[in-house]
Amino acid sequence: MPDQPTLGVCYYPEHWNRSDWPDDARRMRDIGIQFVRIGEFAWSVLEPEPGVFEWAWLDEAIDTLAGAGLKVILGTPTATPPKWLVDRFPEILQVDREGRSRRFGSRRHYCFSSPVYRTESRRITRALADRYGRHPGVAGWQTDNEYGCHDTVLSYSPAARDGFRRFLADRYGTIDALNEAWGNRFWSMPYRHWDEIDLPNLTVTEANPSHWLDFRRFGSSEVDAFNREQVAIIRELSPGREITHNFMGRFVDLDAFATAAPLDFASWDSYPLGFTEQADLPEEVKLRYARTGHPDMAALHHDLFRGAGRGRFWVMEQQPGPVNWANWNPGPQPGMVRLWTWEAIAHGAEVVSYFRWRQAPFAQEQMHAGLNLPNGSPDVGSTEAAQVAAELAALPLPANEPGDLALVFDYEAAWVTDIQPQGADFVYFDLVYRWYTALRRLGLNVDVVPPGTALNGYRAVFVPTLPILRETAVAAFETYTGPILFGPRSGSKTATFQIPDELPPGPLARLLPLRVNRVESLRPGLERGVRLGNRLYPARRWVEHLETDLAAAATYADGSPALVAKGDRFYLGFWPDRTCLNAIVDLVAGRAGLDTERVTEGLRIRRRGNLCFCFNYGPDDVDAPVLAGAEFVLGGSHIPPFDLAVWRC
Ligand code: GAL
Repeated sequence: MPDQPTLGVCYYPEHWNRSDWPDDARRMRDIGIQFVRIGEFAWSVLEPEPGVFEWAWLDEAIDTLAGAGLKVILGTPTATPPKWLVDRFPEILQVDREGRSRRFGSRRHYCFSSPVYRTESRRITRALADRYGRHPGVAGWQTDNEYGCHDTVLSYSPAARDGFRRFLADRYGTIDALNEAWGNRFWSMPYRHWDEIDLPNLTVTEANPSHWLDFRRFGSSEVDAFNREQVAIIRELSPGREITHNFMGRFVDLDAFATAAPLDFASWDSYPLGFTEQADLPEEVKLRYARTGHPDMAALHHDLFRGAGRGRFWVMEQQPGPVNWANWNPGPQPGMVRLWTWEAIAHGAEVVSYFRWRQAPFAQEQMHAGLNLPNGSPDVGSTEAAQVAAELAALPLPANEPGDLALVFDYEAAWVTDIQPQGADFVYFDLVYRWYTALRRLGLNVDVVPPGTALNGYRAVFVPTLPILRETAVAAFETYTGPILFGPRSGSKTATFQIPDELPPGPLARLLPLRVNRVESLRPGLERGVRLGNRLYPARRWVEHLETDLAAAATYADGSPALVAKGDRFYLGFWPDRTCLNAIVDLVAGRAGLDTERVTEGLRIRRRGNLCFCFNYGPDDVDAPVLAGAEFVLGGSHIPPFDLAVWRC
């Protein structure tokens, strides 16, 4: 929406005295902020009693912000249904996997499938859009807040059960077709009628994985339907305004590609330190990056949500200091708030908006930093935001361009491997993260794309795993002429969660004639040796036994194939350690004629148009990997710790 990337902030006028608002707005402008997101938790102050609306405060807040030259992004307040609504309609509450209704007293306590809540959500959205849809100060909308946060995509409520039955009837047509698709002859599980089908929780031992997978699909589609209802109302009443939603990091419970489809662009909430603390990284790596965030943490999400936003994304919430929700919550190294902001922009962000303007002295997030302290005086993040704003003003930015490499990301793959991990450490997000880190060493731009995306134009394609291979995805791979690397478990399941008749990798055998006869998951300490080139590496976590006449690019110790290729298409039958994965990525990249090993630990590169950005996440000065005579537009050839350089390339 802005012509040039710019900054924003999340603000809660309802938390502060009205007399503070003008000064807050003026100071936002003074440090270079242009967008303010407000309102996303404000239902109880907008409608304190059923049907009684109090608009005056929001009128004044929007007028104050707009009067200071700020553009407002208005959130629909549906993440926080007020107490009176819950008391009136207790059936709107989300029900957890143990069958317990969630209580009022925090947020996100609603069930996406509740017909009453859907009506209420449309009602408050309509009331808000009716009043502010054409307000000149309102530039855009955010639907709800972080769909699915606090484990809320799935609800085990009666409404969800009824909706799930309808979903299944639609999908399978006849109950016999469902029984066949799920393999219900096993353990005497056939159903005779749709209304015999329950949700897959509270079974004695695991429920049928086909049952789970359909419930995960249903849950995600309920979020989509909920979101689309709000989008339709806002489109009708707020012409010319753009609509987004703020998705979460390290979160795969809903299919963001699908949920973002009706939005104008995707947004996501970036908390690099908290996410690094929660990540599957060795202890020493967590320690090294405890105050910077791991250098790929924000980047992977920027690339993912740019993909979900069909080329457009914002960071709606940017960590400005310590957060309150990880096991440990250190402060960022001085310089990191600036670095994170620039990094988002390098990846194509249109706006980076800090969470939040002022730290709250009360309630759940009182230990979460803002750009300002609870008493209003500026905190470190504020100074760094102001610095970026000044730098941005002096540096016109070219448009982002399509990437060099494609990484195929699939939410269904996350659900399949979560439902049936088979080995406790086969975690989809962690697998993808490792692959992404290995790719980033090449210093090239990565696009994260859903299966079925047209791939020609990319120099190489990487598919960490894709258990369910739909025909559109296979066709895109068949059409693509460059090198592709497929990871383990690709093609291992049908769309209804069965082993394909022709055995894994199912339809992938059309590209890579091979058969997976056995898979093994390996506990820590148990490993198989793999020979690749003249080095021996350990295969851990997951190994497959491949039967094929294809040439082996890597073999297990007994000489059997571990990585096979047909032309430039590779199938990897194990979970490699980090050095081995680097070697495999280099091998594939070499087929595409790409330079390898351009970037060292702690350094990351990203191009935006003709500008090349280099970020130093490490504690030492480094030389920018650049040819002599390069024209620097920010920083120089010597990059200090927690700093960056930008040059024309
Ligand atoms: C996000 C959420 C915000 C705030 C923030 C704290 O997940 O959208 O409302 O809770 O985390 O880091």
